[in-house]
Amino acid sequence: MNKIREWKSVLLPYDQAVQEIKIKFKAIRNEYREMNEYSPIEFVTGRVKKISSIIEKAKRRDIPENMITELMEDIAGIRIMCQFKDDIYKVVNLIRKRDGKDLFIVYEKDYINDYKESGYRSYHIIIKYPVQTAFGEKEILAELQIRTLAMNFWATIEHSLKYKYKENIPDEIEARLIRAAEAAALLDEEMYEIRKEIINAQLAFEEKSNTVRDITDNIQILSLSGNMKEAIEFQNRFDRIWESGTQDDLIDLLGEIKEYLPRYKILENGHKE
Ligand code: GTP
Ligand code: MG
Repeated sequence: MNKIREWKSVLLPYDQAVQEIKIKFKAIRNEYREMNEYSPIEFVTGRVKKISSIIEKAKRRDIPENMITELMEDIAGIRIMCQFKDDIYKVVNLIRKRDGKDLFIVYEKDYINDYKESGYRSYHIIIKYPVQTAFGEKEILAELQIRTLAMNFWATIEHSLKYKYKENIPDEIEARLIRAAEAAALLDEEMYEIRKEIINAQLAFEEKSNTVRDITDNIQILSLSGNMKEAIEFQNRFDRIWESGTQDDLIDLLGEIKEYLPRYKILENGHKE
C-alpha cells in the first residue's frame, strides 16, 4: 500500500513530462500545418513505463531500487513518427536547437546508420527534462525515439512477437523479421526518392482544405452578422467553384470575402467581433 503510494509520487512528474513533451512536438507539427508547410513530424505518442515493467527491467539490469530514476532512461518515453528518413534528422536538429533551453541532451544513439542486430532502426535521444511540480523542480530522464512510419510498423510488430516468445523467438521467425526490417528500410529508401512528389501532393491537399475552411468560416461570419444576402451569394459561388474550379479560384473567392468583411465591420462599427 505504502509502496504503491510511493510509486505514484515517483511517477507523477514523469507523467507530466510525457504530457508536456507530447504537446510541444504536436505544437511543432501544427505550426507547420497552419503555415501550409510540410511538417517533418507526422505524429507523436508517449507513455510512462508501467510499474511492472520498471520492476522487471530493474531486476534484469541489477539496478537497485534507489537508483532506478537515475539509471533507467526510458521511464518517460516519447515517439516521434516521420514520413521520410530525412525528416528524422530535421527533427533531431530541432531537438538539438533546444538543448540547454527547455531540455538537456544527455546522449544520442543512431540506430539507423548503425541498426541493431535484430533489424531495429530508430534515432534515440536521451534527455533530461525539468518538470515544475507542486514540490519544486524535478529533473527527469526521458527517451525520445524518432523513426519513420515504416520503422515504427516493424518495431511494433517485432515487439509483440518478442513479447509472445520472450527470448525464444524461433530462428525462422527471427530471420524473417530481419528480412522484414530490410524490406522496411528499402520502402523508406524508395519513398525518399519520390518524397518531393508526395510532399507536393500532400501540401496541395492541405492548402485546399485550409482554403475551404477559411471560406466557410468567413461565410458563416457574414451570415451571423446579418449579411444573409451576401453570405448566400458567396456560398453559391463557392458551390460552383467546388464543382469545377481550381485552387486559384478558391483563393480569389476567399480574397473577395475577406475584402468584404472588414468593409462591413467598418460600416457597422460597434457590431464587430
Ligand atoms: P532496453 O532495450 O529498453 O532494455 O534498453 P537499452 O539500454 O538496451 O537501450 P536500447 O537503446 O537498446 O533500447 C531502448 C529502447 O529502444 C527499447 O526500450 C525499445 O523501445 C527500443 N528497442 C531497442 N531495440 C529494439 C528491438 O530490437 N526491437 C524493438 N521493437 N525495439 C527496440
Ligand atoms: Mg536494449
